[in-house]
Amino acid sequence: MEITTTVNGTSETRDVEPRRLLVDFIRTDLGLTGTHIGCDTTSCGACTVLYEGTPMKSCTMFAVQADGKALTTVEGLAEGGLHPIQEAFKQHHGLQCGFCTPGMMLVGAALLESNPNPTDDEVRWAISGNICRCTGYMNIVTAIQAAGGEGS
Ligand code: FES
Ligand code: FES
Repeated sequence: MEITTTVNGTSETRDVEPRRLLVDFIRTDLGLTGTHIGCDTTSCGACTVLYEGTPMKSCTMFAVQADGKALTTVEGLAEGGLHPIQEAFKQHHGLQCGFCTPGMMLVGAALLESNPNPTDDEVRWAISGNICRCTGYMNIVTAIQAAGGEGS
């Protein structure tokens, strides 16, 4: 069936099979490979995108559910320069291998939209659906809080 979705501000119309996963639509049909696949079972959060501004695990949704909706992927965070959260991850060493990073950044950006100065616990709760194998989380929490402090 034909769907039209707004991705990072651009309207995209495609024919998709009803069973096509949103993450495959984003990565393969749209070529936006910043959205990662870590588990394919709703566990890791690497596939997180913003769906109408809310973090969603795109391996858990069908592409047809995005019809008429707005999506933001990690590629859409930067507008003419790094987004404050991208800058903060860079400054505070919030990534190592980078596999979890797009999802962490999108969850963090969504949190800061509603709560620009989150506590340590509030950040940890927000990222509780996102797994990182490398960092021990400390620098991710610091980076998200720093991005809020920079007025994200
Ligand atoms: Fe979607 Fe892991 S790939 S939660
Ligand atoms: Fe490697 Fe998070 S930086 S999984």
